[in-house]
Amino acid sequence: MSALSGRCVVLGVTGGIAAYKAVEVCRRLVADGAHVVPVLTDGALRMVGETTFSALASEPAVTSLWNDPSGPIPHTAAGQRADAVVVCPATARLISDLRTGRSGDVLTATLLATRAPVVLAPAMHTEMWEQPSVQENLAVLVQRGVAVVGPGEGPLAGGDSGPGRMAEPEEIVAAVEAVLTAPDLAGMRVLVTSGGTREPIDAVRFVGNRSSGKQGAAVAEEAASRGAEVVLVTTQSERAPAAARVVAVETAAEMAAAVEIEAPRADVVVMAAAVADFRPAQPSGTKLKKDRGVPAVQLEPTADILASLGASKGSGQVLVGFAAETEDIEANALAKLRSKNLDVIVANDVSKQQVGFGHDTNEIVMFTTDGARHHVPLTTKREAARAVLDLVVTLMDRPGTGSRDTQDSRRQP
Ligand code: CTP
Repeated sequence: MSALSGRCVVLGVTGGIAAYKAVEVCRRLVADGAHVVPVLTDGALRMVGETTFSALASEPAVTSLWNDPSGPIPHTAAGQRADAVVVCPATARLISDLRTGRSGDVLTATLLATRAPVVLAPAMHTEMWEQPSVQENLAVLVQRGVAVVGPGEGPLAGGDSGPGRMAEPEEIVAAVEAVLTAPDLAGMRVLVTSGGTREPIDAVRFVGNRSSGKQGAAVAEEAASRGAEVVLVTTQSERAPAAARVVAVETAAEMAAAVEIEAPRADVVVMAAAVADFRPAQPSGTKLKKDRGVPAVQLEPTADILASLGASKGSGQVLVGFAAETEDIEANALAKLRSKNLDVIVANDVSKQQVGFGHDTNEIVMFTTDGARHHVPLTTKREAARAVLDLVVTLMDRPGTGSRDTQDSRRQP
């Protein structure tokens, strides 16, 4: 379940041209289960319609301190109910007012009347964005704990281009989600592997598989957003989230070597990688030429990284394996759970539409050693990652089974 689900988010909109993108932010927040209260300034109303927000949000838009249908003091009502307040776009004026505590309109009054975390998505012309006054105001707000998302670089109003372009709606929603996410993995070290390994046949060819590395990247990103220190050992480093330390590998042997170094320090290991089971026994250092005839590629087994981790698992470490199956899902997954000495096996039926390899969505069934079964219907890979880590956290909290009990004795400095 998204961290936004059931949470009250005040969506503040000011009079920047990027206000039209706040409509999409509103739609996405509602789609993710948030209760959205739009608060629009006079400037915002010149850019976008009140009706648009009232229609999309969970409540009618609040546009004034004086004639609000929800009651005589709309700013305190919205500010007190909020679990988070996001302002997009945040103009130079809004940033300045928030820094100095000036409540000139319903939005700045709401911001003063809240104790909830605040996210700002600044948007302005490059000259304004680069003003030392704006930068200083923002730096003070960041120091006070305000989260800032963007701005990026790109086309601006009036044909200009440069830094100052508001972050994209999905980034803004992710930033709101991040401030609402409980840091339940704070202080934990999480090792994740992702992507399909590539086993060389010759200098240019390899034996590979269809894994995109998206599910592992989502686990890494989710773990980092919950406060964990994350190491991602991956064949798909271009997909790695910024918050993870990345170890780029290509072959099963390289992945095994990297995991061997990183795993002893990890409280949680999530092996989402699709590791090749076989590799060419004698890869050629040069390209095999066609005119020499069809090569006979002899395969040999690779080491099973996860099985080794299971065999040497320290007490308290939570070990999660993945099982991509096309038949007898449950039986195959349970066999892997037992034979590899895992705490959780995450199984998916990759013969189904939209599930697993390459897709942005997944449907998973997780099994634990106590016989419990947790089904997560088709959803985004990020949501699937959240479900996996929710389960990991419950295992860690269980007396005697989690590294919260044992981390000091097992961890290396
Ligand atoms: N795995 C691993 N090292 C390997 C093969 C697999 O660490 N050489 C890990 C994968 O990362 C995954 C789990 O083991 O977490 C299960 O992988 P999977 O390929 O589904 O199972 P296998 O044990 O290889 O069995 P099979 O291919 O016969 O289904």
